[in-house]
Amino acid sequence: MKLQVNGTTHEVDAPADMPLLWALRDLLNLTGTKFGCGMAQCGACTIHVDGAPVRSCVTPVSAAEGKAITTIEAIAASEVGQRIQAAWVAEDVPQCGYCQSGQIMSAVALLKEHPQPTDADIDTAMDGNLCRCGTYNRIRRAIHRAAGN
Ligand code: FES
Ligand code: FES
Repeated sequence: MKLQVNGTTHEVDAPADMPLLWALRDLLNLTGTKFGCGMAQCGACTIHVDGAPVRSCVTPVSAAEGKAITTIEAIAASEVGQRIQAAWVAEDVPQCGYCQSGQIMSAVALLKEHPQPTDADIDTAMDGNLCRCGTYNRIRRAIHRAAGN
């Protein structure tokens, strides 16, 4: 099937029920998206499908066919993505880093939807992205910084 990833169309040889995360990492070598729980519980595998944050570990590859898939590798292609990236650096957000590509994907989707998010908006949008290193306060500060607050 054909997958449109980060603006490029790729032909992949995958069964329809293969998790999209597998196709991205193993077939297309886009390893920035991480495998955490495999059960939609941690957010490490978050990508965008048609602009919306999606858990790629539980999304069959067939569900993404014909849609615009964006991964962390292309996050700087958007202006909002650049602002989030800069804020992440300025606030020195990551610790081990494992959860961070998923965190950034959720944060970018949030800012596109709510350019001036409140703490409550941030908590709601980021609720499903777990961080075992406890970087939550820095994530919140970085999102406010990226929003210009
Ligand atoms: S790996 Fe997908 S939500 Fe945890
Ligand atoms: S930075 Fe280590 S799990 Fe989030």
